[in-house]
Amino acid sequence: MVQGNIAIDGPAGAGKSTVAKLLAERLHYLYVDTGAMYRALTYKALRQGVDLTDEKALTSLAENTNIKLVPGEKGGRVLLDGEDVTLFLRRPEVSGAVSLVAQVPGVRRHLAAQQRAIAAAQRVVMDGRDIGSFVLPDAPHKFFLTASLEERSRRRWREMRAQGLQLSPDDVLAEIRARDRLDSERALGPLVVPPDAVYIDTTGLKPEEVVAKILAVLEERSGGGDGPCSTGSAK
Ligand code: DC
Repeated sequence: MVQGNIAIDGPAGAGKSTVAKLLAERLHYLYVDTGAMYRALTYKALRQGVDLTDEKALTSLAENTNIKLVPGEKGGRVLLDGEDVTLFLRRPEVSGAVSLVAQVPGVRRHLAAQQRAIAAAQRVVMDGRDIGSFVLPDAPHKFFLTASLEERSRRRWREMRAQGLQLSPDDVLAEIRARDRLDSERALGPLVVPPDAVYIDTTGLKPEEVVAKILAVLEERSGGGDGPCSTGSAK
């Protein structure tokens, strides 16, 4: 029997959301896609024409915005001030701007507080960039998923094509590379591998195979207490 919240971090296209969703279903936990919160805020900022270099304006926007993640089929819906914006959040203009919004400390503090409140109310599988390191540093189970840059951009390209978005594979690769850099270099909540996380390279693995690896770690821990796992290589 698994105990406690599960944090899943990693770069864009590492397969976090697919894996986290499947895992949450299996465990009957709530799946929390924190990237969707940053994307929803970015979408609002773009729609309102907010200057994306104005940290004060973006912080105030975050403080005056209501973002709700509603669980449901296909991973749930995102409500922005009550409006369902799920379908807009993966558009290229949002993907291109989201790292700028996510690097604002006031925005991060505000969204992280909301994420902590969600995790305090129920068991969660929460995915993002800073969940194990900053949002839920005391989570008993932390995983860091990654894959080669080429595989991550291939996955993202396929995902976008399935949504009817036509981008060249090179453009997607360039966007992922740019996002990797911004996500890793920001001052607050950068993408880092938490020292107590289990590191999984998902290159060449199907989502179900990654879920199976995670479940094996959780099962081993629940059998022998919640101590560090011998099969995972924490980096
Ligand atoms: O996982 P994603 O691609 O939907 O995330 C979108 C962006 O949001 C990503 O470029 C970085 C940011 N993000 C973040 O800074 N912190 C999180 N916990 C989740 C996402």
